[in-house]
Amino acid sequence: MTTRRLNVGLADVQSVYEGPGGALWEMLMGEQIHVGGGPHTAVLAKKAGITASSVVLDVCSALGGPARQLAREIGCTVVGLDATRRMHDEAERRTKAAGLDGKVTFTLGDALDMPFPGASFDVVWGQDAWCYVTDKACLIRECARVLKPGGVVAFTDWMETGSMSDELYTSLNTFMAFPYLETLDGYATLTRAAGLEVIEREDLTEDFARHVQRYLDAFRSSHRAAVEAGYGRQMYDDVERGLVMWRDASAAGQVGRGQLIARKPG
Ligand SMILES: C[S@@+](CC[C@H](N)C(=O)[O-])C[C@H]1O[C@@H](n2cnc3c(N)ncnc32)[C@H](O)[C@@H]1O
Repeated sequence: MTTRRLNVGLADVQSVYEGPGGALWEMLMGEQIHVGGGPHTAVLAKKAGITASSVVLDVCSALGGPARQLAREIGCTVVGLDATRRMHDEAERRTKAAGLDGKVTFTLGDALDMPFPGASFDVVWGQDAWCYVTDKACLIRECARVLKPGGVVAFTDWMETGSMSDELYTSLNTFMAFPYLETLDGYATLTRAAGLEVIEREDLTEDFARHVQRYLDAFRSSHRAAVEAGYGRQMYDDVERGLVMWRDASAAGQVGRGQLIARKPG
């Protein structure tokens, strides 16, 4: 488990997603703000065993793209939880426009203090967002609490995958507004400590590094003019520098992405 921490809190993350950050990440990654987009959502749904009768909680649901895909393709019910007002309101707006508001709803709230009774969900789900959460042990305990006995937690996240200097660690996390990165081993330990049984874990770092290179290429070629016009040259330069840093660190195996599936006994 990692011990390095930055002084980044929920208010910092909310200001990213209330401001240009949310729009920029959507520009780069699409409405589903995680690596792999819709195709990866379908893969994770299969691993999580989601069926039409499942009640799913998407923790840090952002614009609600994955929640709508799950409801549309599988027919399940999804609740999205997010702490940023702009993401929450936009998720509700897009869901209504898609005619899915009978199946998909959104709650504004903190993943560290989930506004749900225990044993409410068949599946607790997260994609590339828990890196923003300041206390991963508390987060996983909350996931375990709201899961029904026999339920499954399925998530991917950006992770620390190799050794690096404190300086590089600080720069990588500061650029993203992450308080810290967990490791895949660390997540497995936290998951077991919360009383869950790890069924499957996978290191997706090679695929992650390819995607970061692709985001950088697209940022330079397709998005440059729009970013400079909308947010200024300084913003373009800052984001490009951050993406280069993440590209280099992921190519070197220092940061990456992992996936973990676990079950609550019962
Ligand atoms: C990368 S986006 C999530 C992308 C989403 N999972 C998807 O696949 O489309 C990160 C989101 O996490 C939310 N977030 C970060 N910390 C949070 C917390 N403690 N509680 C709830 N939401 C949080 C942010 O508001 C933001 O919308």
